[in-house]
Amino acid sequence: MLKGKSIVLGVTGGVSAYKAVHIASQLTQASAQVDVIMTEAATRFVAPLTFQAVTGRPVATEMFGLGSNCGIQHIVLAEAADVIVIAPATANTIARLAAGIADDLLCCTVLAAKSPVILAPAMDANMYENPVTQDNLSKLQARDFITVGPASGRLASGKEGPGRLAETSDILAAISQALGRESDLAAKHLVVTAGGTQEPIDPVRCITNRSSGKMGYALAEAARDRGARVTLITAPTSLPRPARMQIVDVCTAHEMHTAIRDAISQCDALIMAAAVADYRPTRAAKDKIKKEAAELTLELERTPDILGSIKGAFVKVGFAAESSNLLENASRKLHEKGLSLIIANDITARDSGFGSDYNRVTIVDQEGKTDSLPLLPKRQVADRILDRVAKLLG
Ligand code: C5P
Repeated sequence: MLKGKSIVLGVTGGVSAYKAVHIASQLTQASAQVDVIMTEAATRFVAPLTFQAVTGRPVATEMFGLGSNCGIQHIVLAEAADVIVIAPATANTIARLAAGIADDLLCCTVLAAKSPVILAPAMDANMYENPVTQDNLSKLQARDFITVGPASGRLASGKEGPGRLAETSDILAAISQALGRESDLAAKHLVVTAGGTQEPIDPVRCITNRSSGKMGYALAEAARDRGARVTLITAPTSLPRPARMQIVDVCTAHEMHTAIRDAISQCDALIMAAAVADYRPTRAAKDKIKKEAAELTLELERTPDILGSIKGAFVKVGFAAESSNLLENASRKLHEKGLSLIIANDITARDSGFGSDYNRVTIVDQEGKTDSLPLLPKRQVADRILDRVAKLLG
């Protein structure tokens, strides 16, 4: 997504300017071309040399500086940018952008740009909450500026409140999303499920499975980066929460069923990557079960087949995790559950599947055509699946 993209990173004069170095570094490592523009105040916090060393490119600080190519610097930067991100964006820069003031290189570049502009505000809580800053941000949002954060927490003043620069991962997610907004899933709503459900035995114990949630999260993030509005319905996982999507937390198959029913009105595709329990304890004990008896028998009942029971005019994608007769079982499930596609994976393979960052899957469609993918990182598998979903959505 970021490879070869031209990103202008505007850095303004706030305490969190040092965090922009990490952003510049991450973008550069993802093979983006990063041009940093610093305001005069920003150079009081971090030396331009630091950004130059990290990005391997000259850093622009002066409105009337002599550039290496004789073009007009703000026009050249504005025209080249696939996206402009200002992190941190101070109250002062936000106010000047809202007013259309162009008295420094950064504001001039934004004014001249046609690309998406992302603002990551960072300032003291009182400044952020001041109605004038809120008005300025609303004005800019109404003009299609994208905002990320601020996060709440400890501020440089020692106080707690909103005003911390958003996490680098959230800012990178916003950049990927902005780059993908003209992409093939733009304006589509995708509901993705992930993780292994947990069915309570008593208040302490549950029946669950080995699903890590990685495949579902990769699908949700890839869909977001291709312009989709994503609702991620997730059973408990230990994964970081993906940014810039709606996340619904569930535990049991029953809760997942309810969450999906609520989410699918007007969705374009439902992708069920979750490993839903097929059986649950008939009764969950109210109190912790004591280890008194030598043996304990649990009575289990079937959970509803969510995918099989959900109907609607949207693309339905299921997963078939199989340990034998992979394609046969997958095709049967595709027809039984009325799916558009089923993603078959052999869970006996050691190098892929549950818990792994890699997966080797076969995509099966309604006509029985199969597409066997090689072993790939889950994010790439996700993109291959989404290629097919995008095609089905026309
Ligand atoms: O029938 P099986 O559990 O193998 O089917 C797997 C597919 O069905 C997965 O996409 C899974 O998310 C979904 N599923 C479901 N409801 C269940 C069990 C599985 O929607 N109770």
